[in-house]
Amino acid sequence: TKLCVLISGNGSNLQAIIDEIEAERLPAKIVGVISNRPNAFGLERAKNAGIPAICLDHTRYEDRVDYDAALQGAIEELQPDVIVLAGFMRILTPEFVNAFTGKLLNIHPSLLPKYKGLNTHQRAIDNGDKEHGVSVHFVTPELDGGPVIIQSRVPVFEGDSAVELAERVQEQERRLYPLVLSWFSAGRLTMRNNRAILDEQEL
Ligand code: GRF
Repeated sequence: TKLCVLISGNGSNLQAIIDEIEAERLPAKIVGVISNRPNAFGLERAKNAGIPAICLDHTRYEDRVDYDAALQGAIEELQPDVIVLAGFMRILTPEFVNAFTGKLLNIHPSLLPKYKGLNTHQRAIDNGDKEHGVSVHFVTPELDGGPVIIQSRVPVFEGDSAVELAERVQEQERRLYPLVLSWFSAGRLTMRNNRAILDEQEL
């Protein structure tokens, strides 16, 4: 299975996928990493792993439609089977999303549908939530609204800072994304009628 991974920053999720592939636990190949930010450390991670690292700097495009058209072209050149949003901090146009329906995945640091958007860990702490977590979902035009594939829960401890909670969540991220990609690689995971289907069972 050919993966194209989109990043904006550190790339810890990208690194988890690289590590699983190198350990031969994930039968896939990352055909390219694309970042919207030139200084994303994830680009270094890609280069260190011998993966084509592409920067499409969004500040060099007039507007969202132009950027997404360039992004779609760069992805189509790579001919991936699945596009993996991993810390990719841009809102995608419906046209872009609809071009890759069923093969666009995202990881979001909350128990969706709770806390769509940003600053999810601080919001959970401020609300006094006793648990928080991460969701991997198919991407649809609705921001953080696509069908959820899998979630993982972590406890929120008294006095947790957003950083401490984020680290606990990211431990789960590094576990979940490779697992979902292994399902996709095995042809077990599809999106149908806006639902995630694993082994013909609706998730
Ligand atoms: C992660 O916390 C993830 O939940 C969110 O973006 C953050 C950074 O991801 N999607 P990464 O370290 O760049 O993969």
